[in-house]
This record gives sequence, structure tokens and C-alpha cells, in this order.
Amino acid sequence: MTDPIDVTRRTALAIGSVGAIGGALALAACSTDDSGRGPNATTTPTPPPSVTDEAPEEPTAAPDAPPADGDIAALADVPVGGSIDASIDGEPALLAQPTAGQVVAFSAICTHQKCVVAAAGPEFHCPCHGSKFDAATGEVIRGPALEPLAPIPVAVVGDKIVAAS
Ligand code: FES
Repeated sequence: MTDPIDVTRRTALAIGSVGAIGGALALAACSTDDSGRGPNATTTPTPPPSVTDEAPEEPTAAPDAPPADGDIAALADVPVGGSIDASIDGEPALLAQPTAGQVVAFSAICTHQKCVVAAAGPEFHCPCHGSKFDAATGEVIRGPALEPLAPIPVAVVGDKIVAAS
């Protein structure tokens, strides 16, 4: 037969053990905040750095040759064998002069994901994903772009480059 005092002692020990475990859990719960601001302090999680493959929304190249009185640029502004950034009807464009007196123009909107392509001598370069285009033809030299830049009709009138629509 069990001694009633012994049962009481065992019960007290059991209760004491549960209390000790509960206390330890409570301390553990409080100890997760090591910020020194106490258990009621709120924390704002820091968002992870964003990595995106999306195209930026802002144009990346400013026109070198702003239009004056409807002219797109002066012929002398475009180096023979080279190219410049421009603006045609308020849209970013590219001008090239593959041979003396022959001027071509293209939309500067990349055919990949619509970044603004920049003049780079005999080529046009997209800063977003590295596509390269031939400045004389607008054709893709290197992707990821697959389609050529859209041509814009222009003409040389005197020493000016003008829209030819
Ligand atoms: Fe991707 Fe131009 S937007 S290469």
C-alpha cells in the first residue's frame, strides 16, 4: 500500500517539475528578443535585397542633339561611321551616318524589353541586357534582342537632318 505522505511528496515533485519546465519555456520565449528593447518591442523585418531581370522604367540615355525648329540634328553632329543619341517627335532615337551624307535613324527603344539603347560609334548598345545593334542597319549583332531596331525615315536637307514622312 502506498503511503499518503509519499503520494503527496511525489505529487509535489511532479508539480514542481512541470512548473520548472513551464518556467524554462517562459524564459526561453522571452529570451528570443535579444534586441534589448524588451518583449513588447515590435520589429520590422528587413526585406531581402531585390534581384530583378525587369527593364528599368527610366530612359538611360539623354539625347545628344536636341531638335531645333523641327530639325532633328545638324549633319555635322553625326560622325561619319558613327552615331549619336537623338530625339524624334519626343521619343528617344538614334542617328548614324554610315557613309558621308547618308544618314539613317532608328527608334532607341530596345526590341528586347524596351530599355533605351545608346549610340556607341558604329553600334548601338542596350544597357539593360547587353544587346548590340548595327548602327548602319539596326540589325541585331548580339542578343538577347531578336528583332532589329525600328527604322525612322529621315532625310538630309542642306546641313540638317530632318524627318522624312
Ligand atoms: Fe534587354 Fe535591351 S532591354 S537587351
